[in-house]
Amino acid sequence: MKKKRVFLTRTLHDFALKELKKKYQIEIHSGKIPIPRKKLYLKIEEIDGLICFPYDVIDSELIDRAKNLKVISTYSVGFDHIDTEYAKKRKIRVGYTPEVLTDTTADLAFSLMLDVTRRVSEGDRIVRKGDWREIFGAYDYVGIDLQGKTLGIFGLGRIGSILARRAKSFDMKIIYHNRKHVPRTKEKTLGVKYVSFNKLISQSDVISIHVPHTKQTNQLFDKKIFQKMKKSAFLVNTARGKIINENDLIEALKKKIFAGAALDVFESEPIGKNHPFTKIQNITLAPHIGSSTKETRAKMAEITVKNLHLGINGKKPKFSVGY
Ligand code: DGY
Repeated sequence: MKKKRVFLTRTLHDFALKELKKKYQIEIHSGKIPIPRKKLYLKIEEIDGLICFPYDVIDSELIDRAKNLKVISTYSVGFDHIDTEYAKKRKIRVGYTPEVLTDTTADLAFSLMLDVTRRVSEGDRIVRKGDWREIFGAYDYVGIDLQGKTLGIFGLGRIGSILARRAKSFDMKIIYHNRKHVPRTKEKTLGVKYVSFNKLISQSDVISIHVPHTKQTNQLFDKKIFQKMKKSAFLVNTARGKIINENDLIEALKKKIFAGAALDVFESEPIGKNHPFTKIQNITLAPHIGSSTKETRAKMAEITVKNLHLGINGKKPKFSVGY
């Protein structure tokens, strides 16, 4: 019997490729990343399964060209790059990789919070440039303590909840905002308090974003929000870049409307060395590494393959978006 065809927009771990090769005829894009749209246009017409990454735009126009496609399996927890509603209409399953990256991403959010509030990366830049002149001055390179400060978690889902646990051990006060309250028992266990979105913005010393990128959250953090933040507050984003209006953020940081930001995600990735963010001191920049540990990336590959396998055989992926 002819093997089903699977296309990967980029290579994955050897063990994952080996697994795929046992069952499918696989092809891996090896050129420029992201794969040029024209190439994906042609490929999608021929394949039964697609493995993609968070920067691949899988919209209705592309999906429409698919003739045999049964499943889109993304190597990410975020799926805002896929028109999942349209895929469902076309009876194409969509798999994603939640759960396995929860701790890892929460850890990054926590380390970014520590980094920007203690000015670690800023200090590193100063040392490397040879600009470290003052030693141990009373006001030199001072950051803030996290103990006793208020962390505002926007989106108390899987990752936000683990971040709350980490922050608790740092004796932070934790408030959160979600579309709705989480159950009281969970609030009690985590030691968190529900507040309105406005209160979250105005009362937090650090705001950490953990909501998906949707029509409702698109560019939600803009100049109006920044004006409501404490002048001493920090903003951390490990969710999606498009939740923040970057031009407004650049202006706010330059004018010191609030104290600083730490970002792992951007409107368009990668950002280059001339991006305005790179000229600002009170910002920590990470190259989208929220899930990037050896252990977690391997687990993500395992689930990506499993989702692909189930979906291509007409079954619901282990972690499926909607259908
Ligand atoms: C994802 O997998 O979508 C996240 O961006 C991990 O960093």
